[in-house]
Order: sequence, then C-alpha cells, then structure tokens
Amino acid sequence: MKEVYEGVPEGAAVAIAVDRTIVGQESILDQVWRCITEQKKNNGIIGLYGMGGIGKTTLLKQVNNKFCSEEHDFDVVIWSVVSREPNLKQIQEDIGKRIGFSTDSWQRKSFGERASDITNTLRHKKFVLLLDDIWESEIDLTKLGVPLQTLDSGSRIVFTTRFEGTCGKMGAHKNRYKVFCLGDDDAWKLFEGVVGSYVLNKHPDIPKLADDVA
Ligand SMILES: Nc1ncnc2c1ncn2[C@@H]1O[C@H](COP(=O)(O)OP(=O)(O)O)[C@@H](O)[C@H]1O
Ligand SMILES: [Mg+2]
Repeated sequence: MKEVYEGVPEGAAVAIAVDRTIVGQESILDQVWRCITEQKKNNGIIGLYGMGGIGKTTLLKQVNNKFCSEEHDFDVVIWSVVSREPNLKQIQEDIGKRIGFSTDSWQRKSFGERASDITNTLRHKKFVLLLDDIWESEIDLTKLGVPLQTLDSGSRIVFTTRFEGTCGKMGAHKNRYKVFCLGDDDAWKLFEGVVGSYVLNKHPDIPKLADDVA
C-alpha cells in the first residue's frame, strides 16, 4: 500500500465538483500544469485571464483536481474565491482551514496575528494557492500572510481574472495564459453532451438545424 501513496501526499488537495461535460481545455490545462510543476525558472505566479463566462473557474477547478489524481510533491493546495469585493479575512480563513487553523479561537485572532500564523506555517511548506476571480485591484498577499519568498523554492500562486492588467499587478509577468472560447468542434461536442445524442438524432433535421443556429 505504501508505495502507492508515495509522492502523492494524501489530502494535499480537496477535490472540487466540476460540470459533467468539460470539453476543449485539455491543452491549456496541460500547459498550466507543467508551468506549476516543472522546476524550470519561474517566478511562481501564474495568471489565467479571459472574459467572463469563458471557463476560467472551470479550468482552475481542474487544476485543483489534478492535484488529487496526479503525482506531485506539493504539501498543500489551497482554494479561495476572491470575487469583485474581496474579503481578505475570508481568504485568510480559507488558507487557515487548509493548514490546520480552524478553531474558534483562531478565528477570533486579529488580522495581523492570523497573518503571522499563516506566514510561519506556509514558510515551511511547498504550497499552491489557487485564487479564483480577482478583479481590477490586486490582492496584497504579503498582508494576508502568504510568504512570497517561498515561491523561490517551488511554491505557486495561480489566479484567474477577467483583466489582463491584473496579471501584471499580481506579478504574473511571464506566466499568463489567455483562456479562449471553444473551437467549433468542441462547442459542438459540448452542445451534444448537454442536449444528448438521443435528442439530436430523434429527427433527421435536428443536427443540421442546430449546426445552422450555432
Ligand atoms: N470547457 C468547458 N466545457 C464545458 N463547460 C464549460 C467549459 N467552460 C465553461 N463551461 C461552463 O460555462 C459556465 C461558465 O464557466 P466558468 O468557468 O464559470 O467561467 P468564468 O470563470 O470564466 O466566468 C459554467 O457553467 C461552466 O461549467
Ligand atoms: Mg469564474
């Protein structure tokens, strides 16, 4: 049994539910995964940007879930949703929960105390912090307690945003990926997946009609 788990720290990541049919993100998922896991020079901050509804959250969830199914040497993968009105205390709570600070007394600590607890713990870990949906103003990770100096030893921050400018503000200068809309074939596959081939083939005209509409 032991060998099976070696290299895959149990519980490093917590799986997140994704839609049943995800199509067309294999290639970008693969690129992002390599950027996270390869040792090559990388400042550790990776931005995924693209318009609303294009699939950024879906992609980031798949990145998260890959940590449950692939081999890697990260100690902990943390997920937090930022959104338009960021709640820094909530982000601290999401981080805290994943690294063992979930008691009521920890919740009652001041922002600064929580930040230093987070720093002292994450400093010794190889972590991945996944931040979904950062808007136009950047998030001050140092203030939250995230020790950015650990990025040099392989920890990673991956975030999504609608704004390419936010990538720069957050420090993703080189490592940024644009999430595009699906190509025709993939869009069709998705449509078929949602509607079901049973419905599509019920009447000989339906596939042609659907194709014209698309
Ligand atoms: N590649 C895809 N395959 C299947 N469904 C997708 C895909 N990309 C996005 N979706 C669906 O489209 C909707 C919007 O995607 P989401 O990831 O929330 O976009 P964003 O975060 O860029 O606003 C969701 O319901 C999601 O399940
Ligand atoms: Mg989103």
